[in-house]
Amino acid sequence: MAPENLDKYELLICVTGGIAAYKVGTVVSSLVQKKAAVTVAMTDSATRLIGPPTFRALTGRAVHTDLWAQEISADVEHISLTDRADLVVVAPATANILAKMAAGIADDLVCTTLLAVEGPVLLAPAMNVRMWSNPATVHNVEILKQRGHILVGPESGWQACGHVGIGRMAEPQTIVRAIEEILAQRKPKAST
Ligand SMILES: Cc1cc2nc3c(=O)[nH]c(=O)nc-3n(C[C@H](O)[C@H](O)[C@H](O)COP(=O)(O)O)c2cc1C
Repeated sequence: MAPENLDKYELLICVTGGIAAYKVGTVVSSLVQKKAAVTVAMTDSATRLIGPPTFRALTGRAVHTDLWAQEISADVEHISLTDRADLVVVAPATANILAKMAAGIADDLVCTTLLAVEGPVLLAPAMNVRMWSNPATVHNVEILKQRGHILVGPESGWQACGHVGIGRMAEPQTIVRAIEEILAQRKPKAST
């Protein structure tokens, strides 16, 4: 059964540069209201679509955007972020981040962090229908599933580009439910 309250759970939400990035504010706010401790990391492209101050205000925590930043902490951030997290979520997950994860690329904070995660990551893909059905993306998603990563969505419907089809990010409440279902099977790291 899903936990009603996410107290003691530590979540890392990686936001990548999809138009649905604005909806992740709702996901983060719901998690914080359920008492989860939430940290957000963003790619450069994501910061062009939604500002880090939004996530800083919603989480009460610094937002991580730069692999080389020294000012937030003296830790090696891409490792310490994954050490603490009970679950890492990528929402929205662009075609680009799926390709980088499948290939093991580590050239910015988000994909380097994702390469350092032990265990499954929850992915909420979001992209144009033609990007989603491109054989390259289909192949990358297959690789990620084989490695044990978990997908929520994408859903079918209206897309910001004006197309209708599969590729819409799962709705925020669907993503929160998927997070709760995964956490229900894990004890918080903080309590072990
Ligand atoms: C307005 C706008 C919206 C975009 N939306 C998406 C999207 O929903 N999904 C996607 O895969 N790429 C989308 N892109 C393209 C990505 O931002 C681009 O591939 C970028 O390199 C992704 O980088 P990241 O994965 O490091 O965030 C969009 C680009 C723009 C300019």
